[in-house]
Formats: sequence, C-alpha cells, structure tokens
Amino acid sequence: MGILIKNGTIVTALDTTVGDVLTQDGAIVAVGTDLDANSGDTTIDASGQYVFPGGLDPHVHMELPFMGTISADDFETGTAAGVAGGTTSIIDFVIPARDQNLMEGLAEWHAKAKKSVADYAFHMAVTWWGDESAEWMRRCVQEEGIPSFKTFMAYRGAIGVDDHELIQVMRTAKSLGALTTVHAEHGDMVVHLQDKLFAEGKTGPEYHARSRPAPVEAEATSRAIMLARMTHEPLYVVHVTTAQSVAAIAEARSRGQNVMGETCPQYLLLDDSVYYKPDFEGAAAVMSPPIRPKGHQEPLWAALRSGTLEVVATDHCPFNLKGQKDMGIDDFRKIPNGAAGIEHRLALMYTYGVLEGRLNLNQFVDVTSTRAAKIFGLYPRKGSITVGADADLVIWDPEASGTISVKTHHHKVDRNIFEGFATKGAPSTVVVNGQVQYQDGDLRVTRGAGRYLKRSLG
Ligand code: URP
Ligand code: ZN
Ligand code: ZN
Repeated sequence: MGILIKNGTIVTALDTTVGDVLTQDGAIVAVGTDLDANSGDTTIDASGQYVFPGGLDPHVHMELPFMGTISADDFETGTAAGVAGGTTSIIDFVIPARDQNLMEGLAEWHAKAKKSVADYAFHMAVTWWGDESAEWMRRCVQEEGIPSFKTFMAYRGAIGVDDHELIQVMRTAKSLGALTTVHAEHGDMVVHLQDKLFAEGKTGPEYHARSRPAPVEAEATSRAIMLARMTHEPLYVVHVTTAQSVAAIAEARSRGQNVMGETCPQYLLLDDSVYYKPDFEGAAAVMSPPIRPKGHQEPLWAALRSGTLEVVATDHCPFNLKGQKDMGIDDFRKIPNGAAGIEHRLALMYTYGVLEGRLNLNQFVDVTSTRAAKIFGLYPRKGSITVGADADLVIWDPEASGTISVKTHHHKVDRNIFEGFATKGAPSTVVVNGQVQYQDGDLRVTRGAGRYLKRSLG
C-alpha cells in the first residue's frame, strides 16, 4: 500500500515545485502533478505545507559507552525522537575500545541497533593501530558497507589516536577509496589544561570550556588538514565550532583540497554563558568541543551559507544531569561529554536559519539531508525526492509553532540544552520507509523497523 501526498510545495536541495508525491511499498514511485492514488492508498493533502526529503543525521551516538557510563538514548528511543522531529535516518559511530578488534565492535553495534525505528548506517572509529587494523578497515569498506572512518584527536588515553595512528588511518582509507573523519582537538593540550585548572581548585563545568579553548580545536583542524594534504586523503571535520577552524577549512578548499566540514545547532545557537548556570546546571551543556564564546556563531552561519561547511548534524549523545553528569560534580574532567539534539535539528535550522534569512529552503534541505547523503554514499536513496528513492518524507507545516522543553521532548534525558527556545515550523507528518510514523503529535514508530544501510562511496 502507498501514500499519495497531494499539492505540497516539494523542496529539494536543487529546486522548489508544487506537486504530488506517490509512494508504493516503501519507495517513491512518482513525482508530478495530478497524480492519482491506487486503491488502498492513503491520501494526504499537503496544501500550504512543504514536502522535504527525510532528514539524515550523520553524527549521533546512541547507547554509547563513554566516560564510565552509557549515553541515555538507545537506538529505539533516539531514532524515535529523530522521527518526531523529521529525521528519518542516522549514521552512528561504532567506537571499539582501545585494543578491541574493530569487527567485534561492529558486531556489538549491530546487536544494539536492531531496535532502531528508522534506517541506520555506521561509521567505524579507529581508536588504536595494530597489525590487523588495515585488514579490518578493508573488511569494513569492501564487506560491511562502511566506507568512512572516525578518528578522535582528543580523548587521549581512551579512544583518542596520536598522529602516527591518524596517518595510518588516512593512508589506509586513501588506498581503499574511503573517507577519514576527524574530531579535531589537541588531545595533549586538553589534558594539560584540564590538570592545570583542576590543580588550581577550578572544578566546575565552566572549566570544561576553559580547558578546551578555540586554539585547541583550530590547531588540530589545521594539523589534520595538513596530514590529509600529505596523504592525499579527503577529510571530513566533524562538529566544527570556531571561526579559526572555518578559516582553515576555507583556506584548504581554496587550494583545491578536498576538505569537508560539519557543524551542529548548539554551536550555531548557544554561547558559553550556558556553563555559568547555578547548581551545576551548566554540566548539561558539557560536550566536546565546548560551546564557544559569542563571536564564533556568525562565522559558522556564514560558512554554511557559502558552502565552506556543508552539513548540520547533532552529535546527539545525551547524558542525564542526575545520575550521569553528576559523576563530575567535584571535577569537571569527569562530567560525561555530550547532549541531546536529534529531535530539534530541523526545527532549529528552519526557525533560526531559514526564517532569519541565513539559509534558503534549498540550502536547509541540503545541510540537513542531501549533502550528508551524498558525502557518505547514501544518495539518491536518501536525501532526495526522486523515483526509486526510499519513501522517507517530511510534510512540514510552516505555521506550526512551539517551545522546546524537556517536558515535551522525546529524548530520554532529563535536560534539553535548547530549553525555552521558540520554534516556528514543525513536521505535521513524517513518512519513514513508506509508513506514516508521526502525525500531528502522534508518534507511531515500530521498534526494529529500521534497516541497516550498507554504504559505498562508489
Ligand atoms: O561531547 C561529545 N561530543 N560527546 C560525544 C563524543 C564526541 O566527541 O563526538
Ligand atoms: Zn567528537
Ligand atoms: Zn560525536
């Protein structure tokens, strides 16, 4: 059975047209005008509303064991929250422990992800380098549908890599036609600044940000770019937060180097005053890199507009304030890093990007869906409204309005870093693989309905 969406304003990364979209058995089978439903199809009138390709969030961490605890959303609750906000597929990161066989890590992630309500893919984090690492990377690319690798320049002593290991990953990825992605922070400098501040009796959440100032990220971004230049490897920099990092990426691109960058709504919309809330509330926004001082946000918006940054992801990685973040109540170094974001990415980017004139509608679709699908090998199956694509569609009511709150969000966590943010525009209907999974506030997801997406950068 199918769905006929009638008279919507169909917005893709390329163009905007008024018409109909017909789906059948989980795929889009026609896009045009005056389309007719087949018997048994559901018809939805989308007059006055937009029809977007479902959102793709290429940077999330569901059920991640990290810093002595596990991120609070599992694959079911996290993907469900995504669907409620119009995100219909994700790419999570397999993050094996140091010294763990990457393939064993992958098996663990497959087991956890089976309960996803929406489709999912994986990046593989290479957290250490050993004799078998190159072969595991080959298997990821050629057998497992994972052509992108993650490296952490931060988190030294845990999942972080040194430059030697990073170079090995880049060289191997290059030989496999795969893509290296990088969390760029100078790991040793972070440890040095953390220990210095702590020794001075500075223990609160605000010192998390002070231990990871903008140059810590800018240096690592520039270094990763230079290493990628020397290994001739394309590079994707995750969660870019500073004006200096943007400048380094822009400079590399102007030389013709293939460097791509991603940012997240929290880096566009919040500033470091979040860390000075009383009663340890600032810990809710402890993440890495940290939220930046005022002055970094507009350069990030400008970079999105100009295409220097190409993707808006969330780095969704929630931890409860009570029972998780408070592990670091006396020591900011022990506050689990991360926050929730998957549900409100589209609403925030629409409200503060499109409606404030920073992005046009086609750019909005590009940065929240299409570009990531292209970069990570899921296009046109995901990120497009074309015949043959998966029927992942968002009908977007531009007149809806709301206020983000922990009281109403679907994230399984006790804080929302965007608490009180007004939003305009929201999904009225979300279709996932040809099924209406969300309509007018009613979330009707199915545990386990999500499928694993094998990718290829072909
Ligand atoms: O603070 C963050 N970002 N936590 C998740 C892990 C990462 O660095 O992406
Ligand atoms: Zn990171
Ligand atoms: Zn992350």
